[in-house]
Amino acid sequence: MAELVLPKNSKVQTGRHWPAPQGADKAKVRTFRIYRYDPETGLNPRWDTYDVDTSQCGPMVLDALIYIKNVIDPTLAFRRSCREGVCGSCAMNIGGRNTLACTHGHAETPGKAVQISPLPHMPVVRDLIPDLTVFYAQYASIEPWLHTSTATPDTEWLQTPKDREKLDGLYECILCACCSTSCPSYWWNGDKYLGPAALLHAYRWLIDSRDQATGERLDGVEDPFKLYRCHTIMNCAQVCPKGLNPAKAIAEIKKMMVERAL
Ligand code: SF4
Ligand code: F3S
Ligand code: FES
Repeated sequence: MAELVLPKNSKVQTGRHWPAPQGADKAKVRTFRIYRYDPETGLNPRWDTYDVDTSQCGPMVLDALIYIKNVIDPTLAFRRSCREGVCGSCAMNIGGRNTLACTHGHAETPGKAVQISPLPHMPVVRDLIPDLTVFYAQYASIEPWLHTSTATPDTEWLQTPKDREKLDGLYECILCACCSTSCPSYWWNGDKYLGPAALLHAYRWLIDSRDQATGERLDGVEDPFKLYRCHTIMNCAQVCPKGLNPAKAIAEIKKMMVERAL
């Protein structure tokens, strides 16, 4: 799951090592091994190592990254915004697992060093920042908004509490891409297979009682690659930091396909 796509003919090299400052609390020093790459330089990627006195920063991996950037090495690049598991921007691979840096404690990561790399199998913009252009285009392709054909009601489109409950486990997705970039099928066919995140959202609109484009939505994903490249590998459900189950949503779409063909 932690494999990275490297530029052709390149190897990840060992980079710089920043030791902990003198006087640091040795018992609190933790080593962070971080993937560094700037495609504009033409240089190979490298692993830089930072010994961080964690008594000087908060408990999450994001706290350590912010400390490294502010105090040790301002050239380190990563995305973050909300720092509370809501925006999805700090998704990265930590200790071999895709997760959110802001909700993952550095003490939770086993091993000598906390190894951090960008989400696997995505082009790298810089360091820990993946290029999510295709991922967002795939999300847009499922048209994630309400489609209606009947007259717009005077007030809101109504929905029973029971129908509203059907959206639980789907609407909470923060589009962090942890699931899609942990899916081997997406690694192999990421340009054609929509991936678990986009398909979870496709299902979210398919089962919305207010939506009136079910047939068109099913037509839109009925394709050997877009939908049927899910081979139930289940990495998606294992890594989702919001505890969602994209594999189940995909299975439900496949079921809808069968039911409409009967
Ligand atoms: Fe992230 Fe989970 Fe949404 Fe996938 S389903 S994009 S892992 S929140
Ligand atoms: Fe991939 Fe999840 Fe399907 S890991 S193959 S999308 S069950
Ligand atoms: Fe928003 Fe981590 S910074 S989810």
